[in-house]
Amino acid sequence: MLNRSNVGVFFNKTKGQLEALAGQFREREDAESYIFQKGSAKFFSNQALIEILEQENLRIEETQIITVANQKGGVGKTSTVLSQARNLSDIGFKVLVIDTDAQSNTTRSLLGKKGERSLFNVLDEGLDIKEIILNARENLDIAPANSDCSRIDLILSDSTFTYNPATLIREIIDELHYDFVLIDTNPSFSSLNIACIASSDRVICPVPLAEWEIDGVEQVAKVVHGINKRLKTSINLDFLVTKFSKNETTAYEEISKLKDLDGNLLNTLIPDASAFRKAQKTGILESRGKAYKETLKLTREIVQNSIGQ
Ligand SMILES: Nc1ncnc2c1ncn2[C@@H]1O[C@H](COP(=O)(O)OP(=O)(O)OP(=O)(O)O)[C@@H](O)[C@H]1O
Ligand SMILES: [Mg+2]
Repeated sequence: MLNRSNVGVFFNKTKGQLEALAGQFREREDAESYIFQKGSAKFFSNQALIEILEQENLRIEETQIITVANQKGGVGKTSTVLSQARNLSDIGFKVLVIDTDAQSNTTRSLLGKKGERSLFNVLDEGLDIKEIILNARENLDIAPANSDCSRIDLILSDSTFTYNPATLIREIIDELHYDFVLIDTNPSFSSLNIACIASSDRVICPVPLAEWEIDGVEQVAKVVHGINKRLKTSINLDFLVTKFSKNETTAYEEISKLKDLDGNLLNTLIPDASAFRKAQKTGILESRGKAYKETLKLTREIVQNSIGQ
């Protein structure tokens, strides 16, 4: 469910186009199940959004696995997972977040506490992932993390545990019908993170413009391209500018350096905004501000890239 102005932001519609879209639904007998008023705002229901996604050729045919990774800490990985999980599920996509980070920040934001069980139990005890998945909100499930996740690398390094990194996560989520699986990772190149990256359709690497170091970001590119070469995968790498401030005199210079790296630079610039700090407490970004609208533009880019438009 999205309010009308945010439907306009996501679908990139002018006021007139938005009005025409609303008109389609208003003519129907059961119009109120598509568009309804809540307080002073008008909302489009999930049913309406699904129809618009179809009209715009934005439906997802096969599960898209996206890992958010950067071996540097505090760059905005968790904030990206949280904002995109929320936006994609609001638009009507079915989303699973897998929190693999022992810090469990994503889990705490979405559920208010760490998980009792985590991916550790899936890999260590052979539990079906369905047994650890919890529902966070409509269309959004989470495979939570807890401190045990820091021991997953021990399992992966055990000689009796043979696995193909390129299929580990795919096998675990096989037969689950999600449109998007978003994986939050800890700041490292652990074996688990490599396996998550190797199983992904794309990797999003957040880069806070004021603090980034070219060496660190180049390492991410080398890891992704190295995996593609060795495992014959074709994982896409997207760099995402986070904590962007126009007032930073070198900002655009820094962006042009990012364009030279071996990856795709996403167009959306996620602003430096205190709203993101608040959002980690509640799991939900205040939806009136500019920060939220930018995350919605990122969602549009992710969906378009995922279907190759
Ligand atoms: N765009 C932003 N503007 C301002 N603050 C932000 C922004 N994105 C993230 N933050 C804040 O920066 C801190 C680190 O962000 P976040 O937890 O998303 O990073 P991370 O890469 O997941 O960190 P870690 O590597 O520890 O898991 C948090 O306090 C978060 O609220
Ligand atoms: Mg994090």
